[in-house]
Amino acid sequence: MLLVAATTSGALGAPLQYLTGASARAQPVVWLTWGVLLISIIVIVIIAGLLLAAMLRRRAAADPLALLPDAGGHSWLWIGVGISTLVLLFTVVWTVVVLARIQAPSVAPRVTIEITGHQWWWQVRYLAGDPALEFDTANEIHIPVGEPIRLKLVGGDVIHSFWVPQLAGKMDAIPGQINETWIEASSPGTWTGQCTEYCGVQHAKMLLKVVADTPSGFAAWRAHQLAKPAAAAAAAAGQAVFESHCGNCHAVRGTAADGSFGPNLSHLMQRRTLASASLPNDPETLAHWIADPQSLKPGNHMSQVALTGGERRDLIAYLESLN
Ligand code: CUA
Repeated sequence: MLLVAATTSGALGAPLQYLTGASARAQPVVWLTWGVLLISIIVIVIIAGLLLAAMLRRRAAADPLALLPDAGGHSWLWIGVGISTLVLLFTVVWTVVVLARIQAPSVAPRVTIEITGHQWWWQVRYLAGDPALEFDTANEIHIPVGEPIRLKLVGGDVIHSFWVPQLAGKMDAIPGQINETWIEASSPGTWTGQCTEYCGVQHAKMLLKVVADTPSGFAAWRAHQLAKPAAAAAAAAGQAVFESHCGNCHAVRGTAADGSFGPNLSHLMQRRTLASASLPNDPETLAHWIADPQSLKPGNHMSQVALTGGERRDLIAYLESLN
């Protein structure tokens, strides 16, 4: 398992970190992390101190190789074993109590999101029971603040693992099964997550963002996602390029492009990042990504599409109109 932090600059936001929590679910785990770390440090200091004291202890005999008389040191072994056992038992009980406490939310979630891990991005589908009220997005998950969200995790190709440490612990996304977990954010904000199961060459650049909105902000975002993107009339030429060159892998709501191999790009301009939250979504990076995706994320499954200069300009103008 790798811990990889994104850069802290600009649109990529705060890097991945697990030493503070931003939810009632993550906070007990964070306290446990700090508690076990502190206990471990104390144990190391005590052992190092005793070892040093033993090494510095002057030998009574003039001959340094002579054995010291037995001073009854065996009882210290039993005292040490007893104290260690109590401390270990305490951390086991603490861990079990924390795991039990964060197992299930106190109220039933109202929002369910299906998240599929792909090499190397996250497909995000908001479930509603009614297909007309469902939509797909990628790599950026919006949730309403202050309520638990049910997540259904699936592996699209190999095993991935979903981890947004400031909101919840890890859960694997495994092909052929659905793993349920939940997240919750206590305050509005944006948090970074990371695939935490090695899944191939671009595992490190399989990040994601979780954006916690106010309830009204979330409702507005959801309604906007359900609508077709209002592509500008000026972008019609670019839409034709997109449909013929990109539509087998990518989808945009309301167009002939309905591929599902790559991320759904409806409302692409609403996202802050590209390439699974590893790059900022700005015009320069988007143009670079389309021209040569392999130079930015080597080994990724996006092919370099042969386009004329005019086609590429039209395509970028179209993508930048997808609000
Ligand atoms: Cu997906 Cu590591």
